[in-house]
Amino acid sequence: MHSLHINSTDKNEIYQELLPQIESLIQEEPDLIANLANIAAVLKTTFNWFWVGFYLADTQTKQLVLGPFQGPLACTRIPYGRGVCGQAWQKGETLVIEDVNRHPDHIACSSLSQSEIVVPVWNKEQQLLAVLDVDSSELASFNDTDAHYLGKLAEIITRYLG
Ligand code: SME
Repeated sequence: MHSLHINSTDKNEIYQELLPQIESLIQEEPDLIANLANIAAVLKTTFNWFWVGFYLADTQTKQLVLGPFQGPLACTRIPYGRGVCGQAWQKGETLVIEDVNRHPDHIACSSLSQSEIVVPVWNKEQQLLAVLDVDSSELASFNDTDAHYLGKLAEIITRYLG
């Protein structure tokens, strides 16, 4: 396996370097969980976010179930429509929350989390496969740049693993 090399400091450039490297990483391995685990590790070490990981959609129970992640202990199950993760599933869109303390029905797995982005990951049948959830211990850490590039990452996951 190759190690990743990121030289930039600009967020746009970091993503532009990172995404092709993640793509080549997952081209080599068909297993979903193995790839999501490495993606969480790569995002955590590149950006040093507080918590980064995936919740996998269980369409039988209509719940999100904790999947591969990096960071502190997290809630294991989130019902459809609940919390920022469940709302992203319900709305079918990426949610960027600048201040989680002011967001209705944010599920606080840790009181240290201050801002959050949740990106839906679809399977090839356009059903939810997972959500990518990233939490920061600082306010307003995420913007349109993160939504754009993490959305591209979600598309890569769909293409190879969806
Ligand atoms: N904050 C999320 C729950 C997951 S944890 O933060 C890891 C939410 O409101 O859906």
